Amino acid sequence: MAENSDKTFYITTPIYYVNDIPHIGHTYTTIIADAISRFKKMDGYDVFFLTGTDEHGQKVEKSAAEKSMTPIELADKVVMRFKDLWKALNIDYDYFIRTTELLHEKGVQKIFKSLQRQGDIYKGDYQGHYCVSDEYYLPEDVPLEKDGSKICPDCGKKAIILKEESYFFRLSAYEKKLLDFYAENPEFVRPQSRMNEVVSFVKSGLRDLSITRTTVKWGIPVLEDTDHSVYVWFDALHNYVTGLGYDWNLGLFVRFWPADVHLIGKDILRFHAVFWPAFLMAAGFDLPKCVYGHGWWLKDETKMSKSKGNVLDPQVILNTFGSDSLRYFLLREIPIGLDGNFSHEGFIHRVNSDLANDLGNLVQRTMTMIQNYFGGTITEMDKAEKEDKKLAKEFKAVKTKIHQYYEDYSLNKALEEIWSYINTINKYLADNEPWKLAKNEENRGRLGRILYQAACALRVIGYFVYPVMPDSADKIWTFLGENKSPAGQCFSELQFDQFKPKQKTRKPEILFPRVDLKEFLKEEEKEKTMATINFNEFKKMDLRVAHILEAEKVEGTDKLLKLKVDLSTEQRQLVAGVAQEYAPEELVGKKIAIIVNLEPVVIRGVESQGMVLAAEVGGKAVFAFYPDDVPAGSKVV
Ligand code: ME8
Ligand code: MG
Repeated sequence: MAENSDKTFYITTPIYYVNDIPHIGHTYTTIIADAISRFKKMDGYDVFFLTGTDEHGQKVEKSAAEKSMTPIELADKVVMRFKDLWKALNIDYDYFIRTTELLHEKGVQKIFKSLQRQGDIYKGDYQGHYCVSDEYYLPEDVPLEKDGSKICPDCGKKAIILKEESYFFRLSAYEKKLLDFYAENPEFVRPQSRMNEVVSFVKSGLRDLSITRTTVKWGIPVLEDTDHSVYVWFDALHNYVTGLGYDWNLGLFVRFWPADVHLIGKDILRFHAVFWPAFLMAAGFDLPKCVYGHGWWLKDETKMSKSKGNVLDPQVILNTFGSDSLRYFLLREIPIGLDGNFSHEGFIHRVNSDLANDLGNLVQRTMTMIQNYFGGTITEMDKAEKEDKKLAKEFKAVKTKIHQYYEDYSLNKALEEIWSYINTINKYLADNEPWKLAKNEENRGRLGRILYQAACALRVIGYFVYPVMPDSADKIWTFLGENKSPAGQCFSELQFDQFKPKQKTRKPEILFPRVDLKEFLKEEEKEKTMATINFNEFKKMDLRVAHILEAEKVEGTDKLLKLKVDLSTEQRQLVAGVAQEYAPEELVGKKIAIIVNLEPVVIRGVESQGMVLAAEVGGKAVFAFYPDDVPAGSKVV
């Protein structure tokens, strides 16, 4: 449907630094972008959704060095974490750009060169406060001490003043042009309050911007002057054009540029609302329609960030709750422009009350009644009379409001509106008490009408929640016997009453199990203590494929087996707690993974020289067996 549409929509997230793994903050921006992108597709747009990673620069160089890795090794590893997380969260992006891709690097070099040729980039001297021990220029916004010096926020040492050759972007020349542009495009920065910040920053005067470094090796080299590497922000911002095909897929670029919205956190507003439009003006590109700076997730009232050590790992929440609960919570809990405090209590409360109770129970109840009273067939019986048509009557207004909220990116309001309709349905059932009507055959007509109305309302609820909770929406439609995802239906064509005659429903499953706060916190604590070892620690573990030569029960125990294994260079004896799962003769000849360099221990009088690896499933051990052609002693990495 949408690919041929003449309405296009281009949305981006920031590209995230690879100096550390993703946290709730990154997750938040990306979920907003995904929900907006799904809504726009339903609304008939051909959408391009770009996300990715920012891989160059001092931060990444430094972080890699600390981990005894090369920058690209670190980047490759962290990129996997981002991609895995986006997959687990159902993030349906169109392209994932990495700034270390050749296509990006070439695009940046080309733009740099052309700005240089036209005089917007020139060579000069950069002077700044430089931290010798951390080897970097302190950001401009680190405050001056009384004596005019600056203190490094990382190591607390006094920075020196250093001067080096650098290329500059002639930002000062764009002051007036930017102010004119803001005045003509009041919606360029959203929310409105942030526009005021931006305007007053530009009015206070713009200095030319140093955009290369000779002290940073890990960056895109300046063509024909390779002692200089491009400053990470000049490099990174251009991802929004290179990721869309600038310089390698002209058709795509022409079709989608300029961006409809750059979604970002308010921390990086200045880069996007001041520097980026100036770069684009210089290069002669159209300017994005909107930069949307959302608020921050706080933990204990301060911004969640790695440097403060207060980040939350979304993986832990995902493992317990699945992706829709997290998507719902983050989008529902705070209006997009404001900050919000993340608390586990708040999260569990929302999941239990909004999802398990309000929506989950409604689905369960309605589907079960259709099963029990009508053999699972959606049966209209006859046209509803006036007093039974409440849900149908409200539908139109509800649909219009939800559409407006989504279109305005007011996702929390859209969800509030949906939940208010859910409550109306719940009340409709409570008022009409179909379970009582079912007791008397005379009421069968009315029973059918009421359940029909409820099923129609559920169908549109499934549709409305789709941008935010795609998995649950698909499930609701499946229960209702639809053979498609809500994604396939156009918003403008959605009607209240769109079932096929006698549509057959399926047995529902629980959508959102209730969760106990104490249980969850216990689970999280467990994950935390196991969570992180660094790469060096991991590298110390010697994991090998072991060929089991002999296996027998350890006498006087019912859980332990004694194994003799071959590692090709030597043989070892191990004790493994797998006797209830595997008979000794089942294991002989098999190849499994073991840790070789664990301190030997004596278990029930038998020495164990290493440890077997097995999955734990419901308290039972399950081995992974290697095929015969994997030689004993092979390293497991
Ligand atoms: O700044 N609450 O990358 P980054 C909400 N590479 N959102 C948060 C957040 C929080 N506590 N913490 C982070 C960079 N974010 C640059 C961007 S773009 C050309 C280059 C989100 O890894 C939010 O979107 O520090 C913020 O802007 C972004 O992550 C910063 O990610
Ligand atoms: Mg940051």
